[in-house]
Amino acid sequence: MIVAIDGPAGSGKSTVARLVAGRLKFQYIETGSMYRAVAWKADQVGIDPKNLDQVATVARDIQIEFKPAGDGSQRVFVEGKELTRDLKNETIGRMAAVVAANPEVRDILVSKQREMGARGDVVMDGRDIGTVVFPDAHKKFYLDADPVERARRRYDEMKEADPGLVFDQVVEQVRQRDHEDKTRATSPLKPAEDAVLIDTTALNIEEVVSKLVQAIEATPEME
Ligand code: DC
Repeated sequence: MIVAIDGPAGSGKSTVARLVAGRLKFQYIETGSMYRAVAWKADQVGIDPKNLDQVATVARDIQIEFKPAGDGSQRVFVEGKELTRDLKNETIGRMAAVVAANPEVRDILVSKQREMGARGDVVMDGRDIGTVVFPDAHKKFYLDADPVERARRRYDEMKEADPGLVFDQVVEQVRQRDHEDKTRATSPLKPAEDAVLIDTTALNIEEVVSKLVQAIEATPEME
């Protein structure tokens, strides 16, 4: 069974997807970390993220592996090296948005995602899972929230590691990332027509997780 969860940065989808996967004993696959891994590798070898051909070669050759961590989250290994934390930083995030606009990179990573999904019960989160990667997913969700609320969540998450962080700048970053994700020519972020839309602005994580688990358990495949 395949559960697709899409939505913008800060919608809560990664946390929710991880918890839903844990609850259902499904494998969790966070596809954003694959775009981040390609950006990281390109940066390591001195390739400009905007160089379409060279970045596509990186995507073709890269080895990305997910291994479950004890708490239900996943550890990400690139060419055998653990990069779970390194991939989260904002600089890599910005480069990942550039890399994610490269159509060839998307084709390569989408194929890898389809292979991973074919292995069994998975919850996969990203921007195009319900629209492109698995248009026939058994259950699709699109999580969204007010941009200022999404920026607040991101600010709370990052302010300990970066005490000089300015909230207004985080709001600006969130708006900028939304714009990039929604306006790119290939696979822009948008809800699948048959996705269940959930606005998480006023909901806590547990409320969202419960909604998803209930909806998934009500599908014929789960009976
Ligand atoms: O969710 P994230 O911040 O880790 O994603 C990093 C970038 O990759 C972001 O700009 C959106 C993009 N992305 C994508 O285009 N398609 C996906 N399935 C997942 C992420």
